[in-house]
Amino acid sequence: MSESSINRWSRAGSPDRNEVASRAYKHPNPRMLFEVAAGLSAPRKELPPKYFYDHRGSELFEEITRLPEYYQTRTERAILEAWMPELIPELGTRALVELGAGSAEKSRIIITAMRAAGTADLYVPIDVSASFLDQTAAQLRRDYPGLTIEPAVADIAEGFERPRGLPHPAMYAFLGGTIGNFYPPAAIRLLSRVRAAMTSEDRLLLGVDLRKDAGRIERAYNDSQGVTAAFNRNMLLVVNHELGANFDAAAFEHRAFYEPINHRIEMHLVSTFEHEVRIPGIGLVPFAAGESILTEISCKHDRDSVAELFESAGLHIQIWRPDPQGLFALVVGAVA
Ligand code: AVJ
Repeated sequence: MSESSINRWSRAGSPDRNEVASRAYKHPNPRMLFEVAAGLSAPRKELPPKYFYDHRGSELFEEITRLPEYYQTRTERAILEAWMPELIPELGTRALVELGAGSAEKSRIIITAMRAAGTADLYVPIDVSASFLDQTAAQLRRDYPGLTIEPAVADIAEGFERPRGLPHPAMYAFLGGTIGNFYPPAAIRLLSRVRAAMTSEDRLLLGVDLRKDAGRIERAYNDSQGVTAAFNRNMLLVVNHELGANFDAAAFEHRAFYEPINHRIEMHLVSTFEHEVRIPGIGLVPFAAGESILTEISCKHDRDSVAELFESAGLHIQIWRPDPQGLFALVVGAVA
C-alpha cells in the first residue's frame, strides 16, 4: 500500500524512520522539536513514550509482547478469545475503530468474531507508525476479503475525528493497556474524545493492566533478555534520526520501577556519566551523572480507578472482565 492511500487525520507527523528517511532532520517535525525541547529543559527530564514507536521500536515492542515476563499481551488475548465470540453478536458490532493498532494481532480476534456474526463491515486501525500500519493493512486485506479497511496515521493524544460514514454499532477499541501511558488528565481528555465520537449504541473496549504484586509488574519491565532496555534506548535513536541529535545510547542505562503512590511503572534512561548532548534547534542539553529521562509511565488500575476515569469522561462501566488471575482486565464502556 502506498503512503498516499493512508488517510491522515492528524496534522502531527509520526516519527517514522522509513517514511521520512530522505528529509530526516533537515525539516524536523516541529511538534516533536517542541516536545523534545520542553521535555529535556524541564527540571525532571521527560520524553513522550510515543517516540518509542518508529519501525524498529514497533518491532521491539512486538518482541516484548512475546517475553515470558510480559504477561499483559497474552493475558489480554486470552480474555479476547474467550469473550469476543459471545460479546460481539450481543452488541451487533459492525465497525471496529482501533486506537494504537500496532500489528493488529489482537484485532483479528475481534474481526473474526464480527465475521462469524456476519457484521464485519469496516475496520479503522489508527497508529502513529505509518510503515507498521501499512504492513498491517496490507496483510489484513489479504486475510479478510470483503472487510473494508481504512487505516489512519494519527497521534491519538492529539485527537481524532469520528470516521465519516461509520456504520453503527461501532466499537472503539483501545487495547494493550496503553491508556496507562497517559497521566490521568490526559487519559480523561482522550476518553472524552472517544466519548464525543460515540453514539448511545457504540461501545468502548478498553484494556487495562491491573494493580498487583509490585515484583511481578517490575519483572515485566526488566526482562532477562534486555529487550525492554533496547526498546527504551531506541527512543534516543529516534531523536537522533528525526532531529539530528547526537545521543550516545550506550551512555544511558535502562531503569524501570513501580511507583506505588501513583500505582505506576516509571521507565527511565539514566545517564551513567556527566555529558552534553547536541540537538539542532535546541542546543546543548546537559546531563549530570545519574540524571535520568523519564521515557514512560504505565499506570496500573483497578475497577474503581477506571470508574473514576470513565465518570470524568462521561462514560460508565457496562462490563468489567478481568482474567481469572486478576492480572489484566477488559472493560466495556458506554456513554453515561
Ligand atoms: C504498550 C504502553 C502497554 O506500558 O506496558 C512495554 C509499553 N513499555 N514495556 C506498557 C511497554 C515497556 C506498554 N504499552
